[in-house]
Amino acid sequence: MSLLKPIYRHFYLVVSIFLLSLYSTSVHSQQQPTRPSAAYQSRLEIIESKIDSILSLLTLKEKVSMCHAQSQFSSPGIPRLGIPELWMSDGPHGIRAEINWSNWDYSGWTNDYITAFPALTCLAATFNPSLSNQYGASIGEEARYRKKDVLLGPGVNIYRTPLNGRNFEYMGEDPYLASTMVVPYIKGVQNNGVAACVKHFALNNQELWRNHINVQVSDRALYEIYLPAFDAAVKQGEAWSIMGAYNQFRGQHCSHHELLLNKILKKDWAFDGVVVSDWGGTHNTNEAALYGLDIEMGSPIDKQTSPRQAFDANFLGTSFLNLLKSGEIDERILDDKVRRILRLMMRTTLDFMRPLGKINNIEHSMVARQVAIEGVVLLKNKDNFFPLNTTQKLTIAVIGENAVKSMTTGGGSSELKANYEISPLEGIKKRFKNASIIFSKGYTSEDTNQSRKLLINEALVTASMADVVLFFGGLNKNRGQDCEAADREELKLPYNQDYLIAELQKVNPNIGVVLVSGNAVSMPWIYDVKTVFQAWYLGSEAGNAIADIISGDSNPSGKLPFSFPVKLSDNSAHFFGELSYPGDGETQYYKDDILVGYRWHDTKDIRPLFSFGHRLSYSSFEITDIKSDKKIYEASDSINITYKLKNTGSKDGAEVVQVYVGKSNSKVTRALKELKGFKKTFLKSGKQTKEEIIINVSDLSFYNESISGWDLERGDYAIYVGNASNAISKLMIIKIK
Ligand code: BGC
Repeated sequence: MSLLKPIYRHFYLVVSIFLLSLYSTSVHSQQQPTRPSAAYQSRLEIIESKIDSILSLLTLKEKVSMCHAQSQFSSPGIPRLGIPELWMSDGPHGIRAEINWSNWDYSGWTNDYITAFPALTCLAATFNPSLSNQYGASIGEEARYRKKDVLLGPGVNIYRTPLNGRNFEYMGEDPYLASTMVVPYIKGVQNNGVAACVKHFALNNQELWRNHINVQVSDRALYEIYLPAFDAAVKQGEAWSIMGAYNQFRGQHCSHHELLLNKILKKDWAFDGVVVSDWGGTHNTNEAALYGLDIEMGSPIDKQTSPRQAFDANFLGTSFLNLLKSGEIDERILDDKVRRILRLMMRTTLDFMRPLGKINNIEHSMVARQVAIEGVVLLKNKDNFFPLNTTQKLTIAVIGENAVKSMTTGGGSSELKANYEISPLEGIKKRFKNASIIFSKGYTSEDTNQSRKLLINEALVTASMADVVLFFGGLNKNRGQDCEAADREELKLPYNQDYLIAELQKVNPNIGVVLVSGNAVSMPWIYDVKTVFQAWYLGSEAGNAIADIISGDSNPSGKLPFSFPVKLSDNSAHFFGELSYPGDGETQYYKDDILVGYRWHDTKDIRPLFSFGHRLSYSSFEITDIKSDKKIYEASDSINITYKLKNTGSKDGAEVVQVYVGKSNSKVTRALKELKGFKKTFLKSGKQTKEEIIINVSDLSFYNESISGWDLERGDYAIYVGNASNAISKLMIIKIK
């Protein structure tokens, strides 16, 4: 190679990159076989040797340049060799609008309108992994069309407290649910030749003090609760990149963390992709170099220098180069990072066969609408309040700011520039053509001179004139609500909504509440209203999907992906006081340990307002004939649970059967039961089907800190089968030998 003249060398490189990209396409567009075939193995080896040959052409400076940003959302390629740049974008609910080169202002382009998909809490609530795959595939297409190589999402931090301002971007409180839902999302995205960047690794479970809070948590809770979704994303989803979190864990920042990144992620899980820092989450050159960070992202630290060099002053820039030149850091450390970055490029920018992508097409809108329909959760439905009759000449009073407020804007980095966004009010007007729809705002989140008293009075008059009142409230994407960089301050609804609902109910008791939020809220009025449904943030198709449910065109089938506590102190993170949440300003101790969410409510018998896995339907379902294939199992076995599911109601619909497992007489503290399997089945009215859920016995292990590994206890286990964590149809005891 070195004997070739430069021009031929360049030609050789381009040709080899092209060939390589063919290999990389064929490797990544197929499902990886369980046992790699010889041909597959040899293709991988060819790719690795090509990466090495590109690496050998790069200067030290070029290699360092690849390890840090060149702009707010890109890292450089190698122009003289034709190696393209990497372009990244938020994530995780749609592709974010273009942002300026070296500041956070929007660029004001007009070609960056996109489809806004429902927030990930809603996706989790569908309990439908194949829909998650369609979501990933659609958002991946939009990323590709917008020329993005890395999608900054999905987020899988565990829902620990209802105050976390970013819960709406995550997949709920249960590690099994989050793991099951994240894998197909990643595969869908990456099939487009766009990398998913799974975030925020790890323990970024609150926004308050997120840049420095030092999380102390046991190994057991780490492995059993906070890591599984990342583990699944890497091992099953084969994610090509991961984002280090802002916070500290055991005294070290997570974006350069020896235990999390070097040991667990790269060594134990054999992650072969790229670790990207959270934006501005890098704090030290030596640690960044040595403890697993590959690309430092964030704004330029040096605001004085021209935009062309400004990012060189960041930690993995010039100071990193100097440490390499002086020999204080071994070049092999750098080479490992660059090898990973080149591998990411082979999978994305250098994969010339990757699809071209699509944006704002009808199919994406349909996926967004379907996720929204399947994700909304009917929490209460007294007197069959919903569905509303669409043929009657009803007067419907729609009350509340959330009936008209845009929920795709705000919220922080997940903010979107939606091509369109149907508000709930628009959706209802469109669907209920025979009805007379009257609207009143009732409350406002804005600092205005508008009299709040006047708003309430107007709403009461509106409500008194109607046959039906639909109150649209909840939270929103303002700072201090469901929004990045701050937490909520209380569980209760903001803007005096509790008072407003109570007053509305007095003038018109025929009232239903639609909660638009990504978090649990308290509901002091729950017994006074007829209906409550949890509508999340539903994206472009919000109003249509809500109208689909209210009209009965669709039957609600979403399940809660987290518990709603009655009061804040009923939640385990809060039960243990300030040191547990939010910490003392420097450190926090996860005293709730493994008892997060329903694990806590169940085990301590503290009744939640609404349980994990809960939902109602316009139909009814019966689960019968629940059986396990055996009574006694070996460690290497799987447990086959079979059941019959019947739609006994008059409407077609879906049910999610859930299997939880618990162990009494354990040598360690255990949750009463933990989700280990679920299946969503659509059934026409009156139809019955036989279904099966399979659980690996090895998945019943707990993380044993004394051996630093998974440990399967022998003895009796309880298997609970039902349709919510608090609605168990059958309890069976099995034995593990
Ligand atoms: C967020 C990330 C996001 C990044 C880029 C950070 O503040 O924590 O989730 O991807 O900004 O916008």
